[in-house]
Amino acid sequence: MGLSLISLFTFVFLSFLLFFFHLASSRQSFCHDNEHSALLQFKESLAIDKSASYDASAYPKTTHWNLEEDSSDCCSWEGVKCNEDTGYVIELDLSSSCLYGSINSTSTLFNLVHLQWLSIADNDFDGSKIPSAINNLSKLSHLNLSFSVFSGQIPSEMLELSKLESLDLSKNGLLQLQQPGLESLAEKLTNLKVLDLSGVNISSSIPHGLTNLSALEFLFLESCELEGTIPSSLGNLNNLIRLDLSQNNFWGIIPFSFGNLNNLIRLNLFRNNFWGTIPSSFGSLNNLIYLDLSQNNFWGIIPSSLGSLNNLIHLDLSDNNFWGKLHTSI
Ligand SMILES: *[C@@H]1O[C@H](CO)[C@@H](O)[C@H](O)[C@H]1NC(C)=O
Ligand SMILES: *[C@@H]1O[C@H](CO)[C@@H](O)[C@H](O)[C@H]1NC(C)=O
Ligand SMILES: *[C@@H]1O[C@H](CO)[C@@H](O)[C@H](O)[C@H]1NC(C)=O
Ligand SMILES: *[C@@H]1O[C@H](CO)[C@@H](O)[C@H](O)[C@H]1NC(C)=O
Ligand SMILES: *[C@@H]1O[C@H](CO)[C@@H](O)[C@H](O)[C@H]1NC(C)=O
Repeated sequence: MGLSLISLFTFVFLSFLLFFFHLASSRQSFCHDNEHSALLQFKESLAIDKSASYDASAYPKTTHWNLEEDSSDCCSWEGVKCNEDTGYVIELDLSSSCLYGSINSTSTLFNLVHLQWLSIADNDFDGSKIPSAINNLSKLSHLNLSFSVFSGQIPSEMLELSKLESLDLSKNGLLQLQQPGLESLAEKLTNLKVLDLSGVNISSSIPHGLTNLSALEFLFLESCELEGTIPSSLGNLNNLIRLDLSQNNFWGIIPFSFGNLNNLIRLNLFRNNFWGTIPSSFGSLNNLIYLDLSQNNFWGIIPSSLGSLNNLIHLDLSDNNFWGKLHTSI
């Protein structure tokens, strides 16, 4: 009896402690006035338009900003996350938020200098250039501007964001990475693990410097107007999990060194002008689930080593010039 009373007392006491700790910690993340008004001004600089976002579950996340009961704490607004100790806004997720309108370097978005994570993907910025003031957000490790109707040359200021680990500029239609180009990007953004430039007009070959991005796990370069041959040094990027080089103008053989990419799960070389035989080293890619080599000029006998790809679920070799019998291992 005595013992359970003590336990009950301890339980109640601990619950109170937890409750007050919780209060104290949530109070600390009260947002700063300048960031509060920067967010509001950013909201007001754009219109809400349902057709600005493509995702079926899109809705305007900013609608209730400043209308909630405790509206002075922007850290509690939808899509906003603050550092619990400093109260600075460190994450902003306004993806698929039906935002419509143009944006330039005067936008108060660039006052949020503590941001580490920013997504404004799947909105419609009406063909705006990516503002050069993006370099104000020097702490960014994650930036997602995909599918947001940006156009023009990607500014060199973006390459100053040296902490970036994930950069998604895909599906904007009219973006260019030419001056500076992919080579400069590879020299400067050396911490990238995820790089998606699908649909960005790069119009160059793959620079040797790309292999300096040794942390890369996801590399998507679909439909980038890339040309030339694949440097064998690409085989050094052995942390790659997904590689997509489809729908470019690459030609020549696939280097034997591709066999070193043994963490690859998906490899897509669809619709290029690759030729030669499939290197037998592909047999080492034993994590592959998805392999698409279709619509190229590969020829010869399909190597028996492909038979050791036990995890393969999707294999497309169509529209090439293979001959001979399939080995029984396949
Ligand atoms: C930047 O955008 C603001 C607000 O949309 C606009 O008033 C201003 O004229 C623009 N500045 C430039 C240089 O385009
Ligand atoms: C960049 O951030 C500083 C605060 O550190 C701010 O004063 C300045 O206006 C910002 N620049 C732009 C272009 O937003
Ligand atoms: C970027 O945002 C889009 C839309 O929300 C999402 O589908 C995509 O996975 C994001 N990219 C990265 C690299 O997280
Ligand atoms: C891509 O850029 C090149 C070089 O600037 C240009 O000639 C070509 O027309 C562009 N392609 C498209 C589809 O805009
Ligand atoms: C690759 O990295 C090395 C060492 O960090 C550097 O010396 C070299 O210039 C880089 N290569 C390119 C093409 O960026």
